Amino acid sequence: SSLLKELSESEGGLLDRRMFFDPEIYKVELERVFARSWSFLCHESQLAKAGDFFSTYIGADPVVVTRQRDGSISAVLNSCRHRGMKVCRADWGNAKAFTCTYHGWSYSTDGSLVSVPREEYAYYNEIDKSKLGLLRVPQVQSYKGLVFGCFDPEAPSLVDFLGDMTYYLDILLDRVDGGTEVISGVHKWKMRGNWKLAAEQFSGDNYHTISSHISVLLSEFPPEAADAFVNIDGLEINPAEGHGIGVMYSPTGAPFSAGSSEAILRWRDETRQESINRLGKERVEGMSWTHANVFPNFSYLHDSSVLRVWMPKSPTEMEAWSWCIVDKKAPQEVKNAWRTQAIRHFSPGGTWEQDDGENWSYCSGAGGQEGVVTRLSKLHVEMGVGHERSHPTLPGKVSHTYSEQNQRSLYRRWAEFMAAESWKDISVPVRTTEVIDRSDMAK
Ligand code: FES
Repeated sequence: SSLLKELSESEGGLLDRRMFFDPEIYKVELERVFARSWSFLCHESQLAKAGDFFSTYIGADPVVVTRQRDGSISAVLNSCRHRGMKVCRADWGNAKAFTCTYHGWSYSTDGSLVSVPREEYAYYNEIDKSKLGLLRVPQVQSYKGLVFGCFDPEAPSLVDFLGDMTYYLDILLDRVDGGTEVISGVHKWKMRGNWKLAAEQFSGDNYHTISSHISVLLSEFPPEAADAFVNIDGLEINPAEGHGIGVMYSPTGAPFSAGSSEAILRWRDETRQESINRLGKERVEGMSWTHANVFPNFSYLHDSSVLRVWMPKSPTEMEAWSWCIVDKKAPQEVKNAWRTQAIRHFSPGGTWEQDDGENWSYCSGAGGQEGVVTRLSKLHVEMGVGHERSHPTLPGKVSHTYSEQNQRSLYRRWAEFMAAESWKDISVPVRTTEVIDRSDMAK
């Protein structure tokens, strides 16, 4: 509790290391952070037809998300009401029903229990099936193709939870008519490290690039571009407490992921004016190299076309789940180029990914954090304290590119959730921008 008090009341400039390995803190955050927040579940394009489903997690809870016959999307706890067996053991697919492989109880895709083997003989026809459906995720909502779920019925709507983060999400999701889709499968891999380390890095850590990724920078870019990278300029933006996005100004003027891909560059040129008409010049021309994290654990890299969830698996272990997101109406050649770039840079074998995993591993269990002396020393998150400012045109608090304002914001939000008894004690972001309705976009 002293840790929470300290984080709640200060600018959060020093961090207690226990939050990265302590099993008690982990247990509480599953309950107070993950069971209350909106969590990214999947992209609507993964649920194109009635019966399409995708298995995932909210925190440590297994859920299955399904497209219903009426076109709506629902999510249920993937745990049989009889003995708790997983009722859906596939990662994704299409189903008319979910039948438990243990004793054969069968549920419709909306979770209702529809049949029980030998019901008359085994249960004397006394079982009330209407009370034994799979537990529903009470809130499931989409933002421009991204599907989120929330276990807490008291939580505000998804767009209220996101606040002005929607202004920046639109750069990824609303560039062109038709919106986005995800392609290929979902890459999943295990890593040692607490999930918050990954979330905070995607939220605001440009600073590590010039050290952790220097080898890949030097091997991938011409020397002058690599030099420019070291002295790069940009912005870290904190649109609402907990959420963070960073923008690097491209030293070469080219999109980062495009690197060697003429097809992507051409597509960007062809669609530039359409994007400017939809989003304005500032968001289209100044903000392509972005990294971001939506509280608590949904990250993305716009220019590398990667969506990411950092699934908590234990205090010191996570699974990374990674999707490749593309403009739906882009030609196949461009989609292929994006997929190749995403896999080359940010995947289990990606050139940039490997550097990060090693850092997170050492900063959690592998670094000896639990040692009696080590665990008492606080971690420093004070870069740029006092230099956050408002921006003439962009919503949120802004710092230049080497700042830890977004990490401090994420940890303050985390502490707010951890200390709160319910959503009554949790602030809802104040929105200063309007949501542009594209409700027909994902159809
Ligand atoms: Fe599912 Fe028994 S555990 S039917």
